[in-house]
Amino acid sequence: MGIVVGIDLGTTNSLIATLDDGQPWVIPDDEGDLLLPSYVGMSDSNQLLVGQSAMRQYAAAPERTVKSIKRQMGTDYSVTLGDRTYSPQEISAILLKSLKQRAESVLAEEITQAVITVPAYFTDAQRQATKEAGEIAGFEVLQILNEPTAAALVFDVRAEEPENVLVYDLGGGTFDVSIVEIAGDVTEVLASHGNNRLGGDDFDRQLQRHLADRFSQAHDGTLVPTDAATQARLLQAAEQAKMALSDHAFTTVREPFLVSEGDAALHLEAEIAREDFENLIKPLLKDTLEAIDRALADADMTAEDLDRVVLVGGSTRIPLVQQLVESHLPGVPVSSFEVDLCVGLGAALQAGVLAGEAVSSILVDVTPHSLGIAAVMDTPMGRMPDMFSAIIPRNTVIPTSRSQVYHTSYDYQEAVEIEVYQGENAIARENVPLGSFRVEELPPKPGGSLQIEVHFDFDLNGILTVTATEKGQGKKNSLAVNDTETRRLSSHDLNQARAAIDSLFEAMPFSLEDLEADLAGESADSEEE
Ligand SMILES: Nc1ncnc2c1ncn2[C@@H]1O[C@H](COP(=O)(O)OP(=O)(O)OP(=O)(O)O)[C@@H](O)[C@H]1O
Ligand SMILES: [Mg+2]
Repeated sequence: MGIVVGIDLGTTNSLIATLDDGQPWVIPDDEGDLLLPSYVGMSDSNQLLVGQSAMRQYAAAPERTVKSIKRQMGTDYSVTLGDRTYSPQEISAILLKSLKQRAESVLAEEITQAVITVPAYFTDAQRQATKEAGEIAGFEVLQILNEPTAAALVFDVRAEEPENVLVYDLGGGTFDVSIVEIAGDVTEVLASHGNNRLGGDDFDRQLQRHLADRFSQAHDGTLVPTDAATQARLLQAAEQAKMALSDHAFTTVREPFLVSEGDAALHLEAEIAREDFENLIKPLLKDTLEAIDRALADADMTAEDLDRVVLVGGSTRIPLVQQLVESHLPGVPVSSFEVDLCVGLGAALQAGVLAGEAVSSILVDVTPHSLGIAAVMDTPMGRMPDMFSAIIPRNTVIPTSRSQVYHTSYDYQEAVEIEVYQGENAIARENVPLGSFRVEELPPKPGGSLQIEVHFDFDLNGILTVTATEKGQGKKNSLAVNDTETRRLSSHDLNQARAAIDSLFEAMPFSLEDLEADLAGESADSEEE
């Protein structure tokens, strides 16, 4: 039997994946890149450009470059490149063919059968156009698969029990939320909502505007010129800053010589706090929460009916996105894994299933416990010391790095003590201590005015590195904890362990009172010793 592949044909990025021994993996290009930017262009010497090279040409020659063709699928739009016009199917076919060639060169075999994904809201005409694109590229299209279904499959290949999964997909240019029911071999999209004009590109533009304002503030009102090249630079800086802020609480944007005024060159140098960025995008994210409610209402469900939330799309790396979704759907476990790859991985799994291969779900390494520090926190009972502030929540896929900002608690505080714990108890001391360290010689300031960024980095070897940095003077200190005892469990092991314990409880022959009596007896025994 030949090799089958799954393809995520995205608005911003596309990828091709296949199976090895039932496990899906993404096929890289010559340079090792997994994602193919969904750009097609014609160079000035009439050379076809696909992916990175077309994307690079875009700023300089937008008239010879096509992007976001996915938005035009199923319409009679056409685009001229060089001396020919192309339909959306044909442009998409160029992307698909490029992916096909990449796969054939890595696997050294001809590939003909593919599953291609589309958004759940795609109409028949859009699906038909996508299928045609596949055929033009030389594939036999085994199935046009819904993106949220593909993502859900990565977490539960054919779960035994029927599951309701809410898939929240926030990519570069589109947002959608779907409720998928998986029951054995049958998967069904029960409801889908979204906004095909909302995504990471909008966040970049918000931050671009903010950077332009900061530039004018710093240079007596001088405006950033509106020419395409300068604006493109600013936009690129904004996207980089946005990504840095997913891992760090602050980042500094430096664009030297952004503007030249007579003899003088003006530089952009601005520190952006994650909080500033969050305030810019919060209104946009609120809309996504409304879409969740609409999808639930359409499926005739409430949050309690959901077994799982799956986050998909590069923009769900933004910590605020995770936080808002988690607090909007309290009690529902939120999973994410390779947020920009998982649709393609799921498509490969489905291709394997259709081809009759044995497939297995992906083994995801997760943190088995929450990791955090002791902090003074506001609680319903007032301000309380020694509360546990989790920085990496339990079940987060590793490797991961997260950070949070804390403040000093009293005037002229000279040092902060960072006590690191793992566990789930709200009281820090009730959890397992992993170590502690101090940051000293803090500048004398009123309580609450010094910011301490605490950064947790958890690598694949299970080593946790905690770094605390005082923002003003940059005083910092760190601690590495080799977490061998608390070896991470794959979610598979985790689920098995959970199932084993659940069945223990179900099989428990006696009542809770018996158990308490038993325990009382035991402790009486041990006191006698
Ligand atoms: N670490 C990060 N933090 C914040 N945003 C990120 C990060 N990494 C990637 N992104 C954003 O994710 C977006 C791309 O996401 P993705 O690859 O899922 O898009 P796509 O599937 O092609 O788009 P669409 O779903 O609209 O078709 C870009 O806007 C990019 O800036
Ligand atoms: Mg996508």
